[in-house]
Amino acid sequence: MQTIAVKEWGGLNVSRLGIGCMRLPTKQEDGKSAIDKPEAIKLIRATIDGGVNYVDTAYGYHDGNSELVTGEALKDGYRDKVSLATKLPSWLVHKEEDMDRLLNEQLKKLQVEHIDFYLLHALNKAHIDNYRKLGYQKFLERAKADGRIGRACFSFHDDAETFLDILNDYDWAMAQVQFNYLDDENQATLEGIRAAGRKGVGIVVMEPLRGGALANPPDGIRAMIEEREPKRSPVEWAFDYVAQFPEVKVILSGISTLEQARDNLGIFSRLPETLSAADQAFVAELKRAYLARTKIGCTGCRYCVPCPQGVAIPDIFRPFDDAYRVNSMGSFEWGYKDKIDKGIDASKCVACGACEAACPQNIAIIDNLAMIRDKYN
Ligand SMILES: NC(=O)c1ccc[n+]([C@@H]2O[C@H](COP(=O)([O-])OP(=O)(O)OC[C@H]3O[C@@H](n4cnc5c(N)ncnc54)[C@H](OP(=O)(O)O)[C@@H]3O)[C@@H](O)[C@H]2O)c1
Repeated sequence: MQTIAVKEWGGLNVSRLGIGCMRLPTKQEDGKSAIDKPEAIKLIRATIDGGVNYVDTAYGYHDGNSELVTGEALKDGYRDKVSLATKLPSWLVHKEEDMDRLLNEQLKKLQVEHIDFYLLHALNKAHIDNYRKLGYQKFLERAKADGRIGRACFSFHDDAETFLDILNDYDWAMAQVQFNYLDDENQATLEGIRAAGRKGVGIVVMEPLRGGALANPPDGIRAMIEEREPKRSPVEWAFDYVAQFPEVKVILSGISTLEQARDNLGIFSRLPETLSAADQAFVAELKRAYLARTKIGCTGCRYCVPCPQGVAIPDIFRPFDDAYRVNSMGSFEWGYKDKIDKGIDASKCVACGACEAACPQNIAIIDNLAMIRDKYN
């Protein structure tokens, strides 16, 4: 049987691969997708049987049902085989008592007495300001002292400056960050990850495949990967890239099928500790090839706004290009709905041309807005 890579981390032997319970198998019920509970339990247990000993969930995943199903999956002796991580929903914390109340509710939902890694979820500037006002450090100390949680941690979605501010605010055990070879200069950034390492704060990686996009590269990039010797799949390049950084302790994968579980367990059984200089150069080439895939070419300088009609031009164009790069227009569509709801979408353009006169990149803004309106409104 294959053995997956394990790392010593603060007295634990953690598997380098962790299962993220945010993308469990689902079925359609009343037009809504609900977790396929038997399949999800089978998948979580098969992954643990394959050597994974780190399980990540959160209060909010699958409309609040991920913790319930994860708790079921961890019965029959599975709880003792893993480190369990879950997250306090920062957006539901309005007063000090909310923190204890939500943690207690999570322990019940998970049917456990102790959570090994407890994260303040999705920290950003606004959330950390709120937590500071409510005395989050006292709450975490209290929860550690009474044994409800083991290690106090945070997950993060904001810029590098905010990451460093939060990192230096408390004696964290771990930070969970979005990191993959396209995002080494986004959000916490590689610099931030290195700073965490210097402080002894372990890094758990989320979105190593950019939510699955790096597993399905556009044709030109797929050809580059297929021609490269020795052979590695797109998924393998993405995992091998993040695994080479010593600060990275666990890499989470939101595994959705048994086939993906088998594939990922295989990859983590031959995970290299480092990438050769030639392999690093190849990953840099892949990144350049993704970044070169640009449909509109907006640099986000914002010279074009405010638009007299209120169209959020750069906030439409930038996510469009980001999604186009990784062949994942569904993610653009999802965010664009919010622009429609707010009445700041492409359909509000009256072709006055004020934006085009201001754009230093000479982008055909009116035509591009029309293209987006015709397809996504
Ligand atoms: N704290 C936070 O704010 C936050 C935010 C995001 C994620 N997370 C956590 O981090 C975990 C990992 O993030 P993620 O789920 O975005 O990870 P990811 O690895 O970037 O994406 C997971 C998706 O990749 C695809 N995939 C996985 N293995 C594959 C394989 N072998 N071959 C082909 N496709 C494969 C699947 O998508 P398809 O089935 O659609 O192809 C899967 O749903 C989450 O599950 C969650 O627990 C936390």
